[in-house]
Amino acid sequence: MTTPVPYVHGYSENEARRLGDQADTLAELLHADTRYPAGSRVLEAGCGVGAQTVHLVASSPGMHLTSVDISEESLAQARARVRAHSDAHTSARVQWHRADLFDLPFADGSFDHLFVCFVLEHLRYPLKALAALRRVLKPGGTITVIEGDHGSAFFHPDSAHARAAIGHLVRLQAEAGGDSLIGRRLQPLLTEAGYDGVTVRPRTVYADATRPALVEGFTRDTFTAMVAGVGAQALAAGLTTRADWERGIAGLHRTAQAGGTFHYTFFKATAVRP
Ligand SMILES: C[S@@+](CC[C@H](N)C(=O)[O-])C[C@H]1O[C@@H](n2cnc3c(N)ncnc32)[C@H](O)[C@@H]1O
Repeated sequence: MTTPVPYVHGYSENEARRLGDQADTLAELLHADTRYPAGSRVLEAGCGVGAQTVHLVASSPGMHLTSVDISEESLAQARARVRAHSDAHTSARVQWHRADLFDLPFADGSFDHLFVCFVLEHLRYPLKALAALRRVLKPGGTITVIEGDHGSAFFHPDSAHARAAIGHLVRLQAEAGGDSLIGRRLQPLLTEAGYDGVTVRPRTVYADATRPALVEGFTRDTFTAMVAGVGAQALAAGLTTRADWERGIAGLHRTAQAGGTFHYTFFKATAVRP
């Protein structure tokens, strides 16, 4: 069994809310073209608090979804979230398992489709994870992987302190064994892990005053909240001073105010098990 790296954003109530805000704000951008046929067997690996699960279930109500996570506490929240967002019949169709995605308790070829969102960036061995997942996918079945890439964040007004704060998050995640710049690596990772037909589509979020829902839901409540959430760790690691950190977070908040703009790119990959 592979030990997962510590999850840099933690499992707090604030983080659960942030993951929910992120998924709801980005649902159309990230999920619009993901539909699984009725009766197909789909595995969601690393479902967390179910932030994506509710959107998967809404888009493909006839599939048989199995959602797994290594955290029992997150699974309990995921179950409650899906129950709150869908009717009793639909939520009863989701199967939940506490499991390590490197060592899944399923037979070879058990699933028609795999879905993995915002998980690889936290793993020390993302290539090994993709190879382990391939085992439970039937030949001809598809995998969908969605990841961000913090190197794609740029904004107006520019702020050296804000850029430094993002850099501290990237470094903390790297020190924990993850890679928050993994979006740009999805094509080579999937190819090396033995998948065919790899297709990667960048999904850009661009927020300005003409898109207030994105300014609030993405710039402020998703991205800035995520960076702000590692402040204590950045200070404890001696990466910054409190004053500089606060300037950085204030710089990010300015991009959500009048005249501010924010750009970020997610990467959505699909591939097939040969
Ligand atoms: C950032 S969260 C993403 C959750 C969800 N996919 C989403 O997009 O909201 C990453 C999740 O991966 C889970 N995870 C990390 N390592 C894992 C492993 N080895 N096996 C299963 N789940 C794992 C964590 O517990 C966490 O819930």
